[in-house]
Amino acid sequence: MTQFKPGDEVFGVCSGALAEYVCTRESAVVAKPNNVTFEQAAAVGVAALTALQGLRDKGKIQPGHKVLINGASGGVGTFAVQIAKSFGADVTAVCSTRNVDMVRSIGADRVIDYTHEDFTNGAQRYDLIFDLVATHSLPAYRRVLTPHGTCVVAGGPPKVRAMLTLAFEVLVLSRFVSQNFVMFVAKLRKEDLTFVRDLMAAGKVTPVIDRRYRLSETSDAIRYLEEGHARGKIVVTAA
Ligand SMILES: NC(=O)c1ccc[n+]([C@@H]2O[C@H](COP(=O)([O-])OP(=O)(O)OC[C@H]3O[C@@H](n4cnc5c(N)ncnc54)[C@H](OP(=O)(O)O)[C@@H]3O)[C@@H](O)[C@H]2O)c1
Repeated sequence: MTQFKPGDEVFGVCSGALAEYVCTRESAVVAKPNNVTFEQAAAVGVAALTALQGLRDKGKIQPGHKVLINGASGGVGTFAVQIAKSFGADVTAVCSTRNVDMVRSIGADRVIDYTHEDFTNGAQRYDLIFDLVATHSLPAYRRVLTPHGTCVVAGGPPKVRAMLTLAFEVLVLSRFVSQNFVMFVAKLRKEDLTFVRDLMAAGKVTPVIDRRYRLSETSDAIRYLEEGHARGKIVVTAA
């Protein structure tokens, strides 16, 4: 007995997904809501799970929390802004000038353009910082966290050595200060895919798609992604 029958419209996660046909576990897919396209559903994957698990499980987000999302205009960030809003948080998004309007349009209460303003020098204090780009030192984040606030580091420098150093700093610092610093890697959980599916079905989350590439253009897609300035997700279509 399986949950699905041939022809059901589903989305989810699998390795080697850049292909016309893929094979994955039943537990890695859920039914696609009717109000999102296949392209939008394909954009959910790890990005939305990272945003959900980072904010809810690691960040313990609560209604009314002041939440700052650093890297708000990218694949994970655009989900994070919308998911944080769905939890009733007050969201400040950090992105560059060209993305300010887009980030505001998906629900951010305030947008800080990092090319003009450094949020770690501001007067505002945050209950939760969700960091996707690791652009500042941990002491700088401490300055703008509330006394018992949490900083969840989900992304960082591309070099493995720099990432390991950051992980070590997070581990050490969180032992000695009242604030909580956490680094994590998202896990594939069917119940979380279902959670995101329900948010999309309710119109609370709509994946933001920057560019679409054909399967034959996959290398261009990856090259663009590696530049680190995607505006939401990029999607590769099998058609
Ligand atoms: N922990 C996990 O399980 C997990 C899972 C998925 C991804 N990640 C990591 O999370 C990070 C983000 O992934 P992603 O897919 O969202 O990346 P992405 O789609 O490439 O987006 C990166 C975003 O960062 C923004 N950005 C660049 N410099 C910035 C700065 N100085 N301040 C603020 N924003 C800046 C860019 O916006 P502008 O163009 O406006 O600069 C871009 O929108 C990556 O390091 C990735 O490896 C971790």
